[in-house]
Amino acid sequence: MNRYQLKFFADSQEASVFVAHEIANLIRQKNKNGEYCVLGLATGSTPKSIYKELIRLHKEEGLSFKKVYSFNLDEYYPMEPNSLNSYVRFMKEQLFNHVDIPAENYFIPDGTISADKIKEFCAAYEQKIEALGGLDFQLLGIGGNGHIGFNEPGSLINSGTRLMMLDHATRVAAASEFGGQLSKVPKKAITLGVEKILQAKRIVLLAWGERKALVLKAAIEGPVDETLPASYLQTHADTLFVIDN
Ligand code: F6R
Repeated sequence: MNRYQLKFFADSQEASVFVAHEIANLIRQKNKNGEYCVLGLATGSTPKSIYKELIRLHKEEGLSFKKVYSFNLDEYYPMEPNSLNSYVRFMKEQLFNHVDIPAENYFIPDGTISADKIKEFCAAYEQKIEALGGLDFQLLGIGGNGHIGFNEPGSLINSGTRLMMLDHATRVAAASEFGGQLSKVPKKAITLGVEKILQAKRIVLLAWGERKALVLKAAIEGPVDETLPASYLQTHADTLFVIDN
């Protein structure tokens, strides 16, 4: 029997408020117990409305990120952190610059490290997560090809954090962010591996709009295998799929 849950909302806005409040409650609960909250965060268009609500909760309702650690799923490689398409820049603009999270508390894979240091970097990234007791909460989107993070089809359930060749479909989907020029989309990215994602205590995957409907159905109802990495979530003990109607 599948252990995941599904929750449907009238629209992505309502859904985002719900998820942002779950995150806020978790931060407050952990902080009340004198603990840090360790979040796994995603980029892309889907979570933007969640970050907007988290900023509102910080500004209007006193939600503090001082005792939050966060680890982003991925970053293009190579990528300069201040470049227009960098996920470092994305996270600063969408969330970090607007809340009180200390700069030393958030981590995003480094798109500038030399190729010979990537393996070492990825191992250290996972160790940092482990040293903090693992991810309390992982936020996910889903790619049109079923990727989670940049774990493209073919990724194994125990895959580690690594440099990944991006699928053609992923690069085509990203091209609009790169001035519509496919040739400008990096061919690779560093991604948190499936194993670390599945070790998160709680996972919430968001999917908005008709264009995600079929891949979502396959991830939820189809076989669990490497052709659709999001299907691995069926094996996780506490995953919620948040979906708009
Ligand atoms: C982003 C990420 C990706 C996206 C996915 C959906 O950090 O890891 O898996 O979540 O590609 O992207 P959007 O939300 O732009 O449809």
